[in-house]
Amino acid sequence: MERIFIFDTTLRDGEQSPGASLEVSQKIKIAKQLAKLGVDIIEAGFPITSDGDFEAVRLIAQEVEGPIICGLARALPEDINRAAEAVKYAKRPRIHVFLATSEIHRKYKLNKAKEEIIRLAVEGVKHAKGYIEDIEFSPEDASRTEPDFLYAVIEAIINAGATTVNIPDTVGYAIPEEFGSLIRNIIANVPNISKAVLSVHCHNDLGLATANSLAAIAAGARQVECTINGIGERAGNAAMEEIVMAINTRKDLFGFTTGIDTTQIHKISRLVSYSTGMVVQPNKAIIGANAFAHEAGIHQDGVLKEKTTYEIMTPESIGLKENRLVLGKLSGRHAFTVRLQDMRYELNEDELNRAFISFKAMADKKREITDSDIEAIVSDELQTIGETYKLEKVQIICGTPGITPVATVAIKNQTGEIIEKTADGDGPIDAIGKAIGAIVGISLKLVNFSVQSVSGGTDAVGEINIRLEADGRLFAGRGIDTDIVVASAKAYVNAVNKMIVSREQ
Ligand code: KIV
Ligand code: ZN
Repeated sequence: MERIFIFDTTLRDGEQSPGASLEVSQKIKIAKQLAKLGVDIIEAGFPITSDGDFEAVRLIAQEVEGPIICGLARALPEDINRAAEAVKYAKRPRIHVFLATSEIHRKYKLNKAKEEIIRLAVEGVKHAKGYIEDIEFSPEDASRTEPDFLYAVIEAIINAGATTVNIPDTVGYAIPEEFGSLIRNIIANVPNISKAVLSVHCHNDLGLATANSLAAIAAGARQVECTINGIGERAGNAAMEEIVMAINTRKDLFGFTTGIDTTQIHKISRLVSYSTGMVVQPNKAIIGANAFAHEAGIHQDGVLKEKTTYEIMTPESIGLKENRLVLGKLSGRHAFTVRLQDMRYELNEDELNRAFISFKAMADKKREITDSDIEAIVSDELQTIGETYKLEKVQIICGTPGITPVATVAIKNQTGEIIEKTADGDGPIDAIGKAIGAIVGISLKLVNFSVQSVSGGTDAVGEINIRLEADGRLFAGRGIDTDIVVASAKAYVNAVNKMIVSREQ
């Protein structure tokens, strides 16, 4: 069976989701997990955009083995130099150069004529080729570019040395049949197309990113660009898990294979969700909480008699296991470590110590700890890096109308000093936000708040995800605890810590 190359851009386009910014250490963890998942190429970032992005790409190139490591660059020498510098330590580096080609972008964004676009694209590819062999080029907004001009651009950049040509549906405008035809026409009209791998990059503005990507591979594309959980600019990118599971489930139709170990899908989906603070909707295909839940009686009856009546894939195929009750108050460090190993988590000594302390604290409040609870604890540990502030105490008073909600919060700063403030608000969460804002000296505007239960029962662990606005940007924060007030305060502190790292960077 022919192989489709999976190009993951979670750390570049995915990170462009509002509020999804990741710290360098989180990016490295995700990149290592992407390598375990078996993606062929990791687009690790856009090195010219910030020192933090440069550093992340450089470290991933140095530390992550297996996939090709790619850095994005506009068709400008300074962008390309920076990308080349960042990826040069990878065993297999790639530079991805892009330049918009559509009339709208040429006229309003770039103010450049067609000939100039071709000249800049060719110069960009040649400049990148001076550093490394593996060069990808994207004519941005390709799906809205005049076809004949698009063919001319593609022919020129392949002659200049591009080894992959990526066709982006940048604004998610294309319709599957139309996008498939575009790919077929490129193959038919670009004389040197066989010298490059043809790739696609679809956005989800009309909810068609996966459908367009699949139409493209059926038409001849052999690389698909995608992100975990479909995160990305605006409505996001094509979701890796949807594309891969569609290719696998409908092998009969597509006849393709990928290098993805699908049993790693659930794990990386949770890691990306926890790290970015982007909650996965329950009805999301493949990885939503309801994706394998059968509610209607007729369906339940069918599944009990024969699973394939209503299940086209098994939960096990994406790495979903039964949520086992595993540990309790009396479980020791050894049992905890063994369970983590069974769940295929690799924590360093420091992370393990912190996770064990959190486990003990949770076991004090909750009788039985499940795999989901352990997953929540570990993911919390993965977020603690760059921790300027740490929550020490939170207490609230609130009640029926007439009682003013008041919160008292104490936070430890980097020098170990504990600062306590009290504030009132429109509700208890608002009061917590105001007290924390007063401590850190930043006015915090809450724009999003969601609460979920990690496991069932009255002693369930609550997961709070929030988004705060500051400096004209959104920052996601996440907190878990058996007490959702405490989890909310933790989520605030987590978002503030991210804000501080972003200011430093
Ligand atoms: O959507 C887009 O056009 C992009 C390019 C940089 C490939 O992200
Ligand atoms: Zn994109």
